Amino acid sequence: MKILKFLLIVFFLSLFSNFKSFSDEAMMKKGLEIFNETAACAACHVLKAAGSEGNIGPNLDTVTMTVESVTEMVTYGLGVMPAFGEDEILTKEEIDIVSKYVVSVANK
Ligand code: HEC
Repeated sequence: MKILKFLLIVFFLSLFSNFKSFSDEAMMKKGLEIFNETAACAACHVLKAAGSEGNIGPNLDTVTMTVESVTEMVTYGLGVMPAFGEDEILTKEEIDIVSKYVVSVANK
């Protein structure tokens, strides 16, 4: 009986981890869509993983970023970089997704 319980736990854990990787995958897909279409970050930035070649802003494969620094930049903008949050171009959730996306694919 103990072994059965153990197997059941392993089974549910593996279900859970599959679910998690599925949601990560969905998030990455959404992030790419926001980067290339919804916000058109691609028009101004190089990001190899997204296939973008914009050169108005810095090449995102060569700068040092954290999820926090990207979130702040996308929310408030700077100079030519639009304030996607303040100007309500993107929702908080979209900014969160695109920031995580950029940081996780940059320089790859
Ligand atoms: C109209 C062009 C334009 C668009 C669209 C744009 N950016 Fe930018 N971005 C810039 C420019 C220009 C800078 C440099 C700002 C400065 O330093 O004066 C910048 C800076 C940044 C930085 C900081 C880079 C560093 O040097 O640390 C990040 C991160 C960034 N942008 C991400 C994004 C993301 C993500 C999006 C889409 C949600 C986006 N940008 C959309 C033009 C743009």
